[in-house]
Amino acid sequence: MRLARFSTVRLRRYAVSVDKNEARDYWNERYGRGCLFGVEPNVVLVEHCSKVAPGRALDLGCGQGRNAVWLALQGHQVTAVDQSDVAIGQARELAARAGVEIETVTEDVAGWDVPDGEFDLVVLAYVQLPSDQRTAVHATARRGLARGGTLFLVAHHRDNLEHGVGGPPTPEVLFDEEELAADFAGLQILRNEKVLRPAERDGVSGNAIDVLFVARRPAAPEDEND
Ligand SMILES: C[S@@+](CC[C@H](N)C(=O)[O-])C[C@H]1O[C@@H](n2cnc3c(N)ncnc32)[C@H](O)[C@@H]1O
Repeated sequence: MRLARFSTVRLRRYAVSVDKNEARDYWNERYGRGCLFGVEPNVVLVEHCSKVAPGRALDLGCGQGRNAVWLALQGHQVTAVDQSDVAIGQARELAARAGVEIETVTEDVAGWDVPDGEFDLVVLAYVQLPSDQRTAVHATARRGLARGGTLFLVAHHRDNLEHGVGGPPTPEVLFDEEELAADFAGLQILRNEKVLRPAERDGVSGNAIDVLFVARRPAAPEDEND
């Protein structure tokens, strides 16, 4: 299988790389070729975040902004973060076309100094990373979450590799329920399970196997157990 100019070998090297510049260049090159994931929001996000009251929302690894713009259209005050300056430029253009404002930040989420406890909703959609980077990015998400706030994560599940359509071909960047429960220990877990999503790649249609993780930070300090 070939992903345009990025061979599976290069994707694998990126996926297990700890080199921030290599990861940023990889995404910049992919985004430079056009719209990668569409302009419509992710269907799993729409289903679960439609129920979240508008507030301050943080979209980490926002890519070209499809989810950030949808959240802004729902009335959230959105901050969207990505390491790729190309993606951030495209997210800003998408927001302008939709007639909404979003705050954008071009940063590596793992090292970003997130405003502590500021966000009522924190979103991570398909930010697939090897374990050390994954735990650092998830720690940023956890820090940004306000008391009583909701964390929404959707990602390619580990089982997608053999049984699902699309997604990265590298097991190191796929997640499962146990890893997510450990990364977000201390939050009240509302959902942590596999979900199927209709998908198509290279003319093959079927279901992608995602993991959906939704959790709430307890409103009262005494209810936090971390
Ligand atoms: C598969 S794309 C998903 C984009 C978007 N969330 C969506 O669903 O359309 C993954 C995104 O995560 C970003 N990303 C991965 N690791 C990151 C990091 N450490 N800091 C900032 N962005 C990161 C990539 O640049 C890329 O835009």
